[in-house]
Amino acid sequence: MIYFDNSATTKVDDKVIKKMVYLMGEEFGNPSSLHSFGFSAEKEIIKAKKIISKIIKSDEKEVFFTSGGTEANNLAVLGTVNAYKRAGKHIVVSKIEHPSVLEVYKKLEREGYVVSYIDVDKNGYVDMKQLENEINNETIIVSIMHVNNEIGTVQNIQKIYDIVKSKNLRTFLHVDCVQSFCKYRINSKYADLITLSGHKIHGPKGIGALFIKKGIRIEPMIVGGKQQNEIRSGTENVPGIAGFALAAENINEKIDENYKKVMEVKNKLAEIKNVLSDVWINGDEEKGSPYILNISFGGIKSEVLLHCLEEKKIFASTGSACTSNHKKHIGTVDIIGGFGQNSLRFSFSEDNTIEEAEKCVSELSEIVPFLRQYKQL
Ligand SMILES: Cc1ncc(COP(=O)(O)O)c(C=O)c1O
Repeated sequence: MIYFDNSATTKVDDKVIKKMVYLMGEEFGNPSSLHSFGFSAEKEIIKAKKIISKIIKSDEKEVFFTSGGTEANNLAVLGTVNAYKRAGKHIVVSKIEHPSVLEVYKKLEREGYVVSYIDVDKNGYVDMKQLENEINNETIIVSIMHVNNEIGTVQNIQKIYDIVKSKNLRTFLHVDCVQSFCKYRINSKYADLITLSGHKIHGPKGIGALFIKKGIRIEPMIVGGKQQNEIRSGTENVPGIAGFALAAENINEKIDENYKKVMEVKNKLAEIKNVLSDVWINGDEEKGSPYILNISFGGIKSEVLLHCLEEKKIFASTGSACTSNHKKHIGTVDIIGGFGQNSLRFSFSEDNTIEEAEKCVSELSEIVPFLRQYKQL
């Protein structure tokens, strides 16, 4: 099979599985327990914090584990607005954020917050001028993702951070780095809150982290046993945390090598636009993430094409995984003025090969004309 749906999720690394099984079956202690079993579990968490904080150039005390990217995004936004209620009621978000960010902003809007939704251009880049104009003395938080999960646009986070801080030093910048962690170098200097997730980097599902810059107050969403400095109560998912950190450590070592590898795969698959007519790439083909390639096939419903490819054991996706079965969702492709209904997202990992991309081009060059002919009948 050819798995081109790595932005939805990735195969868990064998070493990660082994480590997690060991932590579930042997070193299964509760990190809050005062005996040596508990201490060993706690050591795993400390080690994981070290690994992750090193990758994003932060302090270990600034990393908090969550049940995934979704919870980290919710905590970043709700945690700050609730902690800084008296400082203002204005919040800013880009129009192409993941639903785990956008839905939080919409919820807050219904509760009385004023939300500025920042436009993007035809390649998905946020409108910097609009961003600058919108931030005011009452702006609590700005959320802008690093790499877009549908079309792979890479935002200039350093520039965005400078704009935000030049307008209001007290406004926090929250960056969703779920699709860029261990694929691009991340420097926590240029963000106040950073969202990470385990299952996009060959780690397990149901684990993520939020970087919270020192000094920022967060009102917890989950209260209870006061774990993780009371920011996020609940017995820590030790196997998940250790598996996530191990996956990150393994993959981050090969960040440049992997980048080059997936770029070749993406470029090979992008050749489809030279083979077929009425096919185009959504987003910035040259500067977009090499891990994501979003292609529109004129006149063809993406779902039909997805299933035809599936019959050939090629797995891709329509839109982002969590929204593709919600028909009403307006995705990034529609927002940039494209045709989401005709678009497929192919997303890669370093395990993919050029041969797989060639095979996919060859299958598409047969399936697409066939479907187009069928439609004319
Ligand atoms: C950009 C982005 N943010 C957040 C998430 C949610 O992460 P999780 O699946 O860990 O909840 C995803 C998942 O697809 C994503 O692509």
